Amino acid sequence: MEHAFTMEPEAKIGRNDDCWCGSGKKYKKCHCDFDARLDEYRRRRFLVPPRRILKNPDQIAKIRESAKINIEILDYIGAHIKAGITTQEIDDWVCDITKRHGAVAATLNYEGFPKSVCTSINNVVCHGIPSKDVVLKEGDIVNVDASTILNGFFSDSSRMYCIGEVSADKKRLVEVARQSLDVGLQYVQPWRKIGDMGAAINAFVMENGYSVVRQIGGHGVGFEFHEDPWVSYVCPKDTGMLMVPGMMFTIEPMINMGNWEIYISEEDGWTVYTEDGTPSAQWEVQVLVTEDGYEIISY
Ligand code: MF3
Ligand code: CO
Repeated sequence: MEHAFTMEPEAKIGRNDDCWCGSGKKYKKCHCDFDARLDEYRRRRFLVPPRRILKNPDQIAKIRESAKINIEILDYIGAHIKAGITTQEIDDWVCDITKRHGAVAATLNYEGFPKSVCTSINNVVCHGIPSKDVVLKEGDIVNVDASTILNGFFSDSSRMYCIGEVSADKKRLVEVARQSLDVGLQYVQPWRKIGDMGAAINAFVMENGYSVVRQIGGHGVGFEFHEDPWVSYVCPKDTGMLMVPGMMFTIEPMINMGNWEIYISEEDGWTVYTEDGTPSAQWEVQVLVTEDGYEIISY
């Protein structure tokens, strides 16, 4: 993932030239006032988003098409997941649905990741690799993280699934993780800093006696699988990138029942575990910043 963003002003454009966003409109009728506002924030030392991560309405429409498939995948899993199946079977479902729509799973071969979806059970925090040797059993909590590329546009979201009867403490963990997205979404507003969202999530999770993983966070998404900004859920408020209309990113805090420490499996180089062995839960939403708030793109 790339972390460098420009704080330099971007190329100046004539008022009657085509807008940089690719809308086909004249600059003065499109992002001219927007850029003036951004320049003002830049002068005040706000971290403002670079043009290359902002989406125009046509691009947003294409990302929504990608997300439709991603949502269909997660819905299908919700209807069919149960004790006794293997996580490889989940991967097979994802492959089938993705292929049927002429799409590609973004995780497949991503930095060497071998499968089309991540399946993370109980004390696995994220990046669990589907396997024919891993059988779901009653009482498990499972995160399935799907990401789809359609015509070059990316969607990414994940949900938790409870297998049969789950203990009350695990159920509560899953529910708090889900509610933490609602808490975060309330802070997704244009011209506000993204750290306000992350800080609100961390406060909510701590009030509930859990902890948020610090080393892994969310990311910009749409043109690429992972683009700027990096999204933390343990940051102070009034920090981070200014949210503006056309920005798109994920909210995907990983919530541990115990402490936030994690480690990566030495065996497969991917699977992330809680250090203390307690369960972990995560839901992921892909969100677009709009003129007056946000739009959920994939969930
Ligand atoms: N969907 C995960 C994310 O939110 C995927 C991580 S990349 C993987 O970023 F290859 F590890 F799956
Ligand atoms: Co993601």
